[in-house]
Amino acid sequence: MRSYLELALLSTVAVCASVLTAAGSSTADSNVVLDGGIHVRADVSSVCSQIGDALSSASALYYPGSINYLEDNYHWLLSSSQSSTCTVEPGTASDVGEVLQILGATNTSFAIKGGGHASNPGFSSTTGVHIDMSRFSSVTYNAGASTADVGAGLVWDDVYQELQPHGVVVVGGRVSGIGVAGFTLGGGYSWLTSQYGLTVDNVVGFELVLPNGTVMGVTEGSNPDLMFALKHGKGGYNNFGIVTQITLKTYPIGQIWGGLITYTENTFPQLAQAVANFSENNTDPKAQILTTYNSAIGFAGVTQVLFYDAPTPPDGLFDQFMAIPYFTKDVGTMSFLDLVKLTPSNATANTRGVFNTVSILDYSVDMLNVIANETTYWGSELTWASGFLVSFDVEPFLPSLFSHGTTSASAYPPSRAQPLLPLNLCWTWLDEADDERFWEAITQSADNVKAKAVSFGQNVGNAPLYGNYAIFSTPLEYIFGDQLARLQSIKQRYDPGNVMGLTGGWKVQV
Ligand SMILES: Cc1cc2nc3c(=O)[nH]c(=O)nc-3n(C[C@H](O)[C@H](O)[C@H](O)COP(=O)(O)OP(=O)(O)OC[C@H]3O[C@@H](n4cnc5c(N)ncnc54)[C@H](O)[C@@H]3O)c2cc1C
Ligand SMILES: *[C@@H]1O[C@H](CO)[C@@H](O)[C@H](O)[C@H]1NC(C)=O
Ligand SMILES: *[C@@H]1O[C@H](CO)[C@@H](O)[C@H](O)[C@H]1NC(C)=O
Ligand SMILES: *[C@@H]1O[C@H](CO)[C@@H](O)[C@H](O)[C@H]1NC(C)=O
Ligand SMILES: *[C@@H]1O[C@H](CO)[C@@H](O)[C@H](O)[C@H]1NC(C)=O
Ligand SMILES: *[C@@H]1O[C@H](CO)[C@@H](O)[C@H](O)[C@H]1NC(C)=O
Ligand SMILES: *[C@@H]1O[C@H](CO)[C@@H](O)[C@H](O)[C@H]1NC(C)=O
Repeated sequence: MRSYLELALLSTVAVCASVLTAAGSSTADSNVVLDGGIHVRADVSSVCSQIGDALSSASALYYPGSINYLEDNYHWLLSSSQSSTCTVEPGTASDVGEVLQILGATNTSFAIKGGGHASNPGFSSTTGVHIDMSRFSSVTYNAGASTADVGAGLVWDDVYQELQPHGVVVVGGRVSGIGVAGFTLGGGYSWLTSQYGLTVDNVVGFELVLPNGTVMGVTEGSNPDLMFALKHGKGGYNNFGIVTQITLKTYPIGQIWGGLITYTENTFPQLAQAVANFSENNTDPKAQILTTYNSAIGFAGVTQVLFYDAPTPPDGLFDQFMAIPYFTKDVGTMSFLDLVKLTPSNATANTRGVFNTVSILDYSVDMLNVIANETTYWGSELTWASGFLVSFDVEPFLPSLFSHGTTSASAYPPSRAQPLLPLNLCWTWLDEADDERFWEAITQSADNVKAKAVSFGQNVGNAPLYGNYAIFSTPLEYIFGDQLARLQSIKQRYDPGNVMGLTGGWKVQV
């Protein structure tokens, strides 16, 4: 008999599935703008009405009390939300330009939200002016060029849905509900990454609105500097302007094979063997796994997602996973979109949480045992907290994952010298009073994992960390690596007034 808790845990395991790794370091960094609140001036509401006057009829402004206001401020994690003074839904790139110019001229804190899945507080929320990009929602397939123009306000599900009738797909999110913009601008680890690289490796162009209101098409040919900068996450972690549209390469896709299996703690040793064997020995770029270790009070389990880019996988490839006694199993031939929808991501609605990450080079049996131990250790250590869930996502891509898209440099990863396989820590809880203890604990846990990886001979002590998974206190050298100086000089050219410094996120300039 399974307990209620086991059932609840195993059925929600997928919540953080497909996410991150952790690595954090605990030094707070002043270059990270955590909370726009401190910059907010008393007259933000007059800035709101100034914006309202400047907008065309394609756009709208909302205040507290309206449903749009609530939806605009909504995030996947409650701790990533704030109550803004007003929200703006721009409907055209030129309106985005109007808004940015007013915000810059009035020195007003603001936020830019795509899908709202930022794991760090204040990265896409503010008490000032909140910009919601949801009106940028079109998908245009260019069959001749094998590309798709995708609006910055979409979630990946919508993009897959639109492209499915054409028999094509883009290199995007693995679970339901993730935003196209933040995901792409941060790097983007996909089910198709071993085959085609990161999402940024598959960007052909951006439409970008500069802080001075200029709307620019950015391509490798027209502007290699900005192209490089934007490939560093979140519009260069939103350092250079607001992206309104992204042009992505498309690839043929048919029915795929995959699904979701859950296992209980007693299978961890067998699972470690299977995952390590896949990680160390698989050479097939169409195969992918995502292994999520979860634990809550007194119970641990794993959610295993399997993926193969064909209606059936080669004989034997996933046999080890299929042979382990499972708790639930939903595996078969389905569409790419159906696989993504198997792991809904909106179940956390009222929880707080944070991510962290470690860059791993080898998911060996020893490494996986460490991760399993961290899972059960924190499951018993955090029992003072209410409603917590700790999870660790193991993401073993092929070591060649960074060999795609190298013709155009990208700021993430800041170095392609090592095949960094992200481990994502995703921890959630209920009580705001527990925030700091969780931030400390998740930092400690990532440090433990990193120290063990180093002790196993993995050269990851100073390895770059994935900014879409890293906790806000991560020192910037881990996010920007050797690319910081180049990014700062590009920033100087396109945002000399540091208008984008008024919004939260990883900052190339204070
Ligand atoms: C359940 C879950 C699953 C995930 N799975 C994966 C995964 O499989 N692979 C992976 O790589 N990552 C994954 N992530 C991490 C994900 O990449 C980040 O959370 C990412 O920031 C989400 O983008 P968003 O648009 O939804 O977030 P938002 O919170 O809307 O934005 C994130 C950041 O991007 C900036 N931004 C948003 N839109 C724009 C814009 N138009 N112009 C400029 N800046 C902008 C925001 O200001 C903010 O700083 C996952 C996260 C969650 C919560
Ligand atoms: C903008 O506001 C910040 C924070 O309040 C302040 O430090 C800065 O000097 C202001 N800049 C200008 C140009 O007014
Ligand atoms: C990887 O393959 C080698 C050679 O077949 C085998 O000896 C090794 O045990 C495999 N690794 C794992 C973790 O199973
Ligand atoms: C590793 O996986 C392969 C399939 O990719 C399988 O043939 C082999 O038996 C596995 N190795 C072990 C030690 O189980
Ligand atoms: C999650 O989203 C789906 C699809 O949008 C919806 O049907 C479901 O009710 C949502 N669940 C929660 C808990 O909000
Ligand atoms: C499990 O992890 C905890 C916390 O990092 C550590 O103190 C303990 O020594 C680990 N146990 C084993 C067997 O590695
Ligand atoms: C805006 O900035 C860009 C980049 O510096 C510049 O080319 C453009 O002329 C500027 N536009 C205006 C209206 O100042």
